[in-house]
Amino acid sequence: MNRPTILTGDRTTGPLHIGHYAGSLSNRLRYQDSHEQFLLLADSQALTDNAHDPQKVRRNVIEVALDYLAVGIDPGRTAICLQSQIPALAELSMLYLNFVTVARLERNPTIKDEIRARGFGRDIPAGFLCYPAAQAADITAFKATVVPVGEDQAPLIEQTNEIVRRINAVAGCLVLPEARAIIPKAGRLPGIHGKAKMSKSSRNAIALSASSEQIRSAVRAMFTDPNHLRVEDPGRIEGNVVFAYLDAFDPDQDEIAELKAQYQRGGLGDGTIKARLEVILQDLIAPIRERRAQLSEDRGYVLEVIKEGTERARERTEATKREVVNALDLFQL
Ligand code: TRP
Repeated sequence: MNRPTILTGDRTTGPLHIGHYAGSLSNRLRYQDSHEQFLLLADSQALTDNAHDPQKVRRNVIEVALDYLAVGIDPGRTAICLQSQIPALAELSMLYLNFVTVARLERNPTIKDEIRARGFGRDIPAGFLCYPAAQAADITAFKATVVPVGEDQAPLIEQTNEIVRRINAVAGCLVLPEARAIIPKAGRLPGIHGKAKMSKSSRNAIALSASSEQIRSAVRAMFTDPNHLRVEDPGRIEGNVVFAYLDAFDPDQDEIAELKAQYQRGGLGDGTIKARLEVILQDLIAPIRERRAQLSEDRGYVLEVIKEGTERARERTEATKREVVNALDLFQL
């Protein structure tokens, strides 16, 4: 009966895309029975780089919840909860900030990349720089030992475990468990133009709610090998977005290996591989889109799911917060 606990989440900054599906959602679906699972709608973390647009963060709470439910997250088995409505997460974050240095936060590779990508320069919001401590609070408040995420999140789990070890050392007991990231082998999907990773904020993603027309035109626009001009020409696999997606989504990987060999020899056209990919993506997304459309008619149900999940999360995290406060022997009235 004692299943290990999973905690993961997504910032509520936009609808989820097929990169999330390959990167983390498929793992979250797989572990629904074997693990006790909590999924966090990370609206507080979304504010760390969107404080100028709280409406966007608010609007996308429901959108991300719809994505979760539409791909098959079952609220009977997985609690979907809203970060900003769970007070213990904020309280633990404040405590954890004392167990990490500014220099260490600045060295975190994920933070470094994100600061560069957002062009913050010297004007980094303090909440943004410190969000690894808050993410450590998210993970440990649930006593999660398993964290299924995309590969970009690995340094955050590492930093979480550093904070855990410091707190345990000061407390003199193992009050918090360390956690392990589960990351898919395929790595992160490139965006459709092949220049950057797929991301909610750049227009290079295929949303899980994409229409069939949007899927068709995204596949058409996909970057392949610019020197592969005629079908007979040999083509390159490296950097070829269509093959990256076929690696992630085509169930027949033996056939993909053959197609790659043929493409490299020459004699396989971009049109053929794109047509194959389009069928796979249309089949993947159509049922998700349909279920999402049905669910979005029933906002009341979605709200109820989030409320229940958040209630469970409050109980769980409040208990952990008390244990940490006790273990650190803070004065209590
Ligand atoms: N950092 C994640 C993202 O960018 C969201 C997130 C918040 C998260 N808290 C978490 C992921 C805890 C895993 C565990 O989408």
